[in-house]
Amino acid sequence: MSTDLRFVVRPGGRLQGDIRVPGDKSISHRSIMLGSIAEGITHVDGFLEGEDALATLRAFRAMGVEIEGPDAGRVVIHGVGMHGLQPPDAPLDLGNSGTSMRLLAGLLAGQGFEVTLIGDDSLSRRPMKRVTEPLALMGAEINTTPKGTAPLMIRPVDGLRGIDYVMPVASAQVKSCLLLAGLYAEGETWVTEPAPTRDHTERMLQGFGYEVMIEGPRRGVRGGGKLVACDIDVPADISSAAFFLVGASITEGSDLILRHVGMNPTRDGVINILRQMGADIEVSNERVVGGEPVADLRVRSAPLRGIRIPEDQVPLAIDEFPALFVAAACAEGETVLTGAEELRVKESDRIQVMADGLKALGVQAEPTPDGIVIQGGPIGGGRVDSHGDHRIAMAFAMAGLRASGEIEITDCANVNTSFPGFADLAAATGLNLEVAHV
Ligand code: S3P
Repeated sequence: MSTDLRFVVRPGGRLQGDIRVPGDKSISHRSIMLGSIAEGITHVDGFLEGEDALATLRAFRAMGVEIEGPDAGRVVIHGVGMHGLQPPDAPLDLGNSGTSMRLLAGLLAGQGFEVTLIGDDSLSRRPMKRVTEPLALMGAEINTTPKGTAPLMIRPVDGLRGIDYVMPVASAQVKSCLLLAGLYAEGETWVTEPAPTRDHTERMLQGFGYEVMIEGPRRGVRGGGKLVACDIDVPADISSAAFFLVGASITEGSDLILRHVGMNPTRDGVINILRQMGADIEVSNERVVGGEPVADLRVRSAPLRGIRIPEDQVPLAIDEFPALFVAAACAEGETVLTGAEELRVKESDRIQVMADGLKALGVQAEPTPDGIVIQGGPIGGGRVDSHGDHRIAMAFAMAGLRASGEIEITDCANVNTSFPGFADLAAATGLNLEVAHV
């Protein structure tokens, strides 16, 4: 095992300051993918220099795309056009990144070369049939392990054909995968979502001049078009802001400003849920930047109360539940989450791992098949295993603000996948956090 990186959080502190968290992960991935297959030069600002988005960037470099940067969030992509990607010399290693693997499966299914996608232990356990099955319906040839997991071996085929697919899970990764495959398919490719999920792919395709057809819950593209390079300004990631929204909400005397946060309505569930719990979050300076809504947020501490989380908010806050569970632990009364079985197949089983961690700190947390029941109450000190899941590590770091003793969080290196600089930024705003290399 590589050296463990641990967070040690001492009790006390409060969050204050005026900060901008790093760029949106979902948008950063998509900027590289679409910029690479566009015609012309795409300039990206605010790119997330985290391991996940860098895995996507390296994959396209390995397929012959010239990409400059990242340099302080600036990336310049020399697009090769729809058919300009080259076969890579080796399997594409996508590390911990589910978004890279699922979206690339779609984008690469219709290329004229063979390519294999691999990932780390966590990614190699995650379900890929949700993308390989509908891609097979389009005529793609992709091999997985018998369990339906990576490595994905993608073979060239004569051509893909459009399908009309009703998605069994509300997943932006599945939707995006199929739309990207649809760019290369004959005819129209349609996907129907059981519930709205993040729509960055649709917005960005339109930004690159590609028509996306929208009919109620259906999204469609017609194959055979082209993308034209454009400039992209990546907003700060609301999923990274979420840790600070929770940290400031639960700690008396906190008053924090978060700048330029992406406020796409398919991503703002965390704000709706926290407000329903009583959080004091002010939204100002709302504007649209490069097709994505953005705003500044001011969050001040407030007494939180437990709620039954509305199921329609679940896909809109899907990555924010580790942080929200910490908010629930600090709330008065009971918080009940249902309809969130997807949390069990994220970077870790986030229901089980969060329940175990909360219990280790003396919080009553009962996992259910599709959610959790958390009783608000005092948080003690203790040791928590993040299972290499970035969002679990950051959520428990914020719990330290309300804990009565020291919290030690193990296996934190993957925080770098989505939030490089988290520890320094958290410490600068008032969290008593130290990083230990063990
Ligand atoms: C993402 C979609 C979500 C989310 C992930 C990023 C994306 O996954 O959890 O962090 O960029 O499309 P699902 O589509 O599996 O819900």
